[in-house]
Amino acid sequence: MSKKYYLIANWKMNLGISESVALARVVKANILKTRVSNFLEFVICPTYPAIIPVKETLGNISIKLGAQDVFWAENGAFTGEVSVTTLKELGVKYIILGHSERREYLKETNEMVNQKVKTVLAHGLIPIICVGETFEERREGLKDSIITNQVAAALANISINPDQQIIIAYEPVWVIGSGQAVLPEEAEHTHLVIRQALFDLAYENHWPAGENFIRQNITLIYGGSVNEENINEFLERRGVEGLLVGTASLDAKKLFNLIKAINK
Ligand code: PGA
Repeated sequence: MSKKYYLIANWKMNLGISESVALARVVKANILKTRVSNFLEFVICPTYPAIIPVKETLGNISIKLGAQDVFWAENGAFTGEVSVTTLKELGVKYIILGHSERREYLKETNEMVNQKVKTVLAHGLIPIICVGETFEERREGLKDSIITNQVAAALANISINPDQQIIIAYEPVWVIGSGQAVLPEEAEHTHLVIRQALFDLAYENHWPAGENFIRQNITLIYGGSVNEENINEFLERRGVEGLLVGTASLDAKKLFNLIKAINK
């Protein structure tokens, strides 16, 4: 069975409602001009209040909606937070969790990410779990162990069932938004490190159909300064099954070029 290739557009807090709708309108017009392969899963993650307007703008074309975060509790007195059931009502299918900007500015911990993963999976949505090292961690030679720990912590005590899908995004913190991605071979290496961490977890936690589950249900993608110029180099790398794109996804022409690069 061929797996899908993921292109996740993370618009972050860069676009308001009218800007998100305007971009979605052009994206839709461009998509309608081409034939999008069944193997491309294209997901747009707008700011929360723009989710419905973007959904209405896109209509019934084959673009999925994602959210940029969620709270771990299902409901209750959590001022300012948004629940998974609310996101589900909006038609969201994917939820980005543990993005480095949240880990840095909101002090989100591995434990919080783990609780969110549990909630998202329990509601049948697909978590996009972000992991990655800071420049200091990398300089100290800690990259692989930091990433292995983040993966293990995010998936700790998760009971796996065969219908669940999980995406793990390797995003080196120090290249996000910098315009300079890591070398594609490095992304490939880190994806192997993550895959090994997953095999270890499957063994320790007795995941049913462990290796098969990892191959079929867990997708590894790369994010961090992916653009029109470097996308092909990542696409060629073994184990890189998709891309999480911030800056380049804010420009309709660049975004369409990314889609075309995957779609050929
Ligand atoms: P970038 O952002 O493409 O601007 O580096 C990626 C991300 O943070 O998800």
